[in-house]
Amino acid sequence: MERIVYVNGAYVPESEAKVSVFDRGFLFADAVYEVTSVLDGRLIDNAGHIARLERSCRELEIKMPVTAEELTSIQLALIEKNKLVEGGVYLQLTRGNEGDRDFSYGDAIEPTLVLFTQAKKLIDSPKVQSGIKVISFDDIRWRRRDIKTTSLLPACLAKHAAHAAGADDVWLLENGYVTEGGSSNAYIITQEGTLVTRPLSNDILHGITRAALMKLAQETGLKIEERLFTLEEAMQAKEAFISSATTFVWPVVAIDDQPIGNGQPGPMALKLRDIYIQTAKACA
Ligand code: PDD
Repeated sequence: MERIVYVNGAYVPESEAKVSVFDRGFLFADAVYEVTSVLDGRLIDNAGHIARLERSCRELEIKMPVTAEELTSIQLALIEKNKLVEGGVYLQLTRGNEGDRDFSYGDAIEPTLVLFTQAKKLIDSPKVQSGIKVISFDDIRWRRRDIKTTSLLPACLAKHAAHAAGADDVWLLENGYVTEGGSSNAYIITQEGTLVTRPLSNDILHGITRAALMKLAQETGLKIEERLFTLEEAMQAKEAFISSATTFVWPVVAIDDQPIGNGQPGPMALKLRDIYIQTAKACA
């Protein structure tokens, strides 16, 4: 069965979906996006993803062509049409197109909205048992990383470099401090058992999974410090892990070939992953 995707009000087979070559998303990456995970056919943490989309649109003055409620209906319709049980719904909203290439744009421009589903094993991912290996990589992104734009070339290049080096992903570095993973938030557990992650600012994406996870970590009584940490501190940590909508929590077992802790997925990372998934499913 061909996948059904959504383009500007229509549900169409993917081979029939059309977006203009003059679309600013295509020409300038003038677009924002969200990825919501799906478990048992249900959307996980979706209210947070839609709220962040609305914020991204406000920051960039991109128009929302539909309401938050309508967006959710479209997401659910796609899950149903594609019989998606586990994976994600990708949503991209571009500023639109004015029929030519021009850096600037007028007020009358109408946005382009595209959504599609992607099937993926989220619960039984092999990365949970193995953990992932990351390499450190220079964070060359722009200064508004809090806005979820499709300008993802730095992340693509970084992840490609990681794969070429035999690793799974990157931890990005700025002035010696870890900002984020290639497409995730980054955390360590210190030898004293404190959870450390970078505080929210324009330097990182305000992860929706991060928000839920921090609340749950607090409820389990874990000591939390939201502060900057260096690569050296991460390498000396007891555990390291990442979070995102497409991974939930994945343990990090090596950074630049140096094993973290005993080189195995850490118990706290796995515990937080379990608690997150249980809670997410209960709230879906
Ligand atoms: N990426 N930081 C970056 C740079 C990200 O790209 C992502 C998510 C996150 C985690 O955010 P959240 O928990 O809301 O998914 C942090 C998505 C999954 C992607 O680009 O596919």
